[in-house]
Amino acid sequence: MKILAIETSCDETAVAIIDKKNSRNFRVLANLVSSQVKIHEKFGGVVPNLARREHEKNLVPILLRALKEANMYHVSRIKYQVSDLKKVNLILEREAILRDQFAQHFLSLKKPKLDAIAVTYGPGLAPALWAGVNFAKALSAFWKVPLIPINHMEGHIFSALFSPKRSTLYAMRFPAIALLVSGGHTELHLVKKLGSYKRLGETLDDASGEAFDKVAKMLGLSYPGGPEISKWAESGNSQAIAFPRPMLKANNFDFSFSGLKTSVLYYLRDHPKYSLADVAASFEEAVVEVLTEKTLRAAKKYKAKTILIGGGVAANKKLRQVLRNKIRELLPHATFLEPQISQTGDNALMIALTAAYGSSKLITSGEHSRISLLVNKKLRATEGIGAEPGLRL
Ligand code: KG4
Ligand code: ZN
Repeated sequence: MKILAIETSCDETAVAIIDKKNSRNFRVLANLVSSQVKIHEKFGGVVPNLARREHEKNLVPILLRALKEANMYHVSRIKYQVSDLKKVNLILEREAILRDQFAQHFLSLKKPKLDAIAVTYGPGLAPALWAGVNFAKALSAFWKVPLIPINHMEGHIFSALFSPKRSTLYAMRFPAIALLVSGGHTELHLVKKLGSYKRLGETLDDASGEAFDKVAKMLGLSYPGGPEISKWAESGNSQAIAFPRPMLKANNFDFSFSGLKTSVLYYLRDHPKYSLADVAASFEEAVVEVLTEKTLRAAKKYKAKTILIGGGVAANKKLRQVLRNKIRELLPHATFLEPQISQTGDNALMIALTAAYGSSKLITSGEHSRISLLVNKKLRATEGIGAEPGLRL
């Protein structure tokens, strides 16, 4: 079973193609990510409409490259007719760049042997998501291949299960606790089995990645701030400044990072000769301590056999190291799963793997109107990833 996956929830345009051998074994035929970081850098964060335009420009060239890498790019002797584009033009009514590129490149291309097209429908930035979802709908209608809408956060869970060396999904033990940390989210989930999730807690204000980005900005570091702060933190003293540990003592699994960010702001104002390395290290220490403590508390409460992390902030070395050591020390029977660093950021491979696992539903081209977006943090607290209000099926 060959699956094409498209991910455009934020500022990475990503396309992957996998060949599913069985529910655990895959071959990755293509896995491409084009980052827009350089474009958003000067604004200190992602600008949604700019992101949409970049996705529109990048999707066709990246897909063509992916098809070539997967050996699925064949020029057709029988050309499609312009009339075949009727549905496509309707779907891409508002994506002029994509519409033009579609007509230019896909009329002469042989239909690739794909069994499904997976696409991220949320959570994410609405304009960015539209580009990917409408492109996937257009391909689905043109090639008559069913569509599988995938939740981005569930994708981050799957990225921790994938072993690139063996091209298999790790056979994890349940229940599991998943800590998902990115620029837009900070959430703890109870994973009863793959496809069945219960959100235990989330951030009440800023996401952990957002806190890294905002503090980096205050320190004059570039966007995205996470990698910059952790680089500076390596040479700093993490005990130098006692920044607060927000909600550490609260008897729930929620987080809050905006107060911590404000404390850093006041510290910088009151200590003009501050040490950048010490501020970075002490801030990182505070974030890591809160994330680690709450994850361990959830793991103990639910007797987790597996603990996993996912999302952009899961690239943070300190977070990985502290969690790994604490789990070894306090929960020696639990397995800790962490994605490869290259799989922590947004990518389409995780979307393809989630689709391939098979708990998501197929949508044929006649039912495209049944897909709706899940914008940003609109997951309802009582519902898990698999059952959210944005997807009307
Ligand atoms: O998952 P992701 O690539 O995109 C979203 O869905 O948001 O996460 C991006 C976030 C950014 O806020 C970035 O600063 C953060 O992940 N990040 C890190 C590190 N690398 C990326 N945060 C802390 N330490 C890192 N090493
Ligand atoms: Zn993400």
